[in-house]
Amino acid sequence: MMKIIDRHFPAYKGELKDLYGFKPGFLFLDLTLGDGGHTQEALEAGCRVVSFDIDSEAIKRATGFIKEFTPAIYDEDNLSIDIPSDFHWLIIRSNFTGIDDISKKLSLPKFDGIMADLGPSQFQVLSEGRGFSFSSDEPLDMRLNQKLGVTAADLLAVLNEGELRDLFSLSDEPFARPIARIIAKQRLISPIKTTKQLSDIISKIKGFRTEGRIHPATKVFMALRMAVNLERENIRVLLPQLPGLLNDGGILGVISFHSGEDKLVKDFIVDFETQGILSAINQKPIEPSIKELTISQRTRSAKLRLAKKII
Ligand SMILES: C[S@@+](CC[C@H](N)C(=O)[O-])C[C@H]1O[C@@H](n2cnc3c(N)ncnc32)[C@H](O)[C@@H]1O
Repeated sequence: MMKIIDRHFPAYKGELKDLYGFKPGFLFLDLTLGDGGHTQEALEAGCRVVSFDIDSEAIKRATGFIKEFTPAIYDEDNLSIDIPSDFHWLIIRSNFTGIDDISKKLSLPKFDGIMADLGPSQFQVLSEGRGFSFSSDEPLDMRLNQKLGVTAADLLAVLNEGELRDLFSLSDEPFARPIARIIAKQRLISPIKTTKQLSDIISKIKGFRTEGRIHPATKVFMALRMAVNLERENIRVLLPQLPGLLNDGGILGVISFHSGEDKLVKDFIVDFETQGILSAINQKPIEPSIKELTISQRTRSAKLRLAKKII
């Protein structure tokens, strides 16, 4: 039977209208459509929206949730079609790293607000068969887009012990060294190909799950997911493109879930402030509200940074 996965509860849900100043005609670029919560908030406030996602499953789900609006959907492999100048909602299936090129190809207007809500959605993490979840036993894939060539199992097979340790350290895994050592030993006996094999190895070192605490394999799975999907590289390529896509006075926002990503965003904003192009709206990242934390545990590590394009 197909598992039904609840709609993703996005961080800062219900707060974007005030943070961005949504009003009818506001042009909003949602670089990470996911289950469409942020896009829906913008559409309902009368914004015109362009939404990106790399994952066609996410696009199917979001359009299923947002029934009141009908998007025109484009694929990065077929962008030759003209876009109506009075579009209300466009969805583009593409990696957001291509935003500048695609914007030019499609003659998209400049935006009043841009949002990137990084990482995977709950749907992706909990979906069966994609290899993100340690609660079922499945192949260690973790690709958000099947065009990516390398799976998590491939990384576990080819990285040497030191490279594995460095990779796991990226997600602040305190047991990175012993986990890397055991993986390097274990794979000589049999290749590590499934989520359960990996999660069992980690649990043996760190101890099994205890009530109320995060699963011992969470950080290793996160590091592998980030590497497979080139998440840091994508953020590095994306960020410098954003100021050029904004109208003067436009606002960009990035939600990250990991200190390393937040640092990339912070450094980018400081760099563009020095150049006189952006001005940080908040010096410290905005943390989720208490109300939000009671609804979604996942948002507890969210950090939102906002910056305005200087006129
Ligand atoms: C955290 S979810 C976004 C949730 C969304 N804000 C909502 O309201 O449901 C992130 C989404 O971004 C997508 N994504 C991740 N990396 C991407 C990339 N490089 N380019 C385009 N989409 C990406 C994922 O497929 C996922 O659907």
